[in-house]
Amino acid sequence: MIRFLHVGALIFFVGGQLALALAVVPAMRRHGAHEAMRAIARRFGVASAVAIAVVIATGVAMASRYSLWGAPVLHAKLAVLVLVGVLMALHVATPETRAVSWATLAASLVVVWLGVRLTHG
Ligand code: HEM
Repeated sequence: MIRFLHVGALIFFVGGQLALALAVVPAMRRHGAHEAMRAIARRFGVASAVAIAVVIATGVAMASRYSLWGAPVLHAKLAVLVLVGVLMALHVATPETRAVSWATLAASLVVVWLGVRLTHG
């Protein structure tokens, strides 16, 4: 159940970023719906905050249950997660900067990769 919640929340967080970057933002840019884009970003931002809280709470629970706090892969994962947090703050401050948006998405995918390595080696 805890793993299901962890994976479910990260699917929302990372999958939502992919859908926004690859489909929603290009369509909005082409058809010029600036207000709609702002509303989507606001709602996705709130939902992402909830998803990240679930991912962190379930991650902490699993790390304790499986005694993984000493695992180097978990340390790397948490370090990249801090980077994701910094990039998200930058993204909120400069939402039009595409490099920051893509860097946030790339760093989030690195966290997924490290999560899979943590579980499956
Ligand atoms: C956006 C943030 C995160 C992402 C994208 C992420 C991603 C993942 C993924 C893909 C898995 C593998 C699931 C599976 O194959 O069953 C996983 C497992 C795990 N994650 Fe995360 N995770 C995140 C945050 C965290 C945090 C904050 C912690 C701990 C403080 C954490 C601890 C763990 C643990 C302990 C496991 C299971 C390891 C095992 O089964 O041996 N994760 N995570």
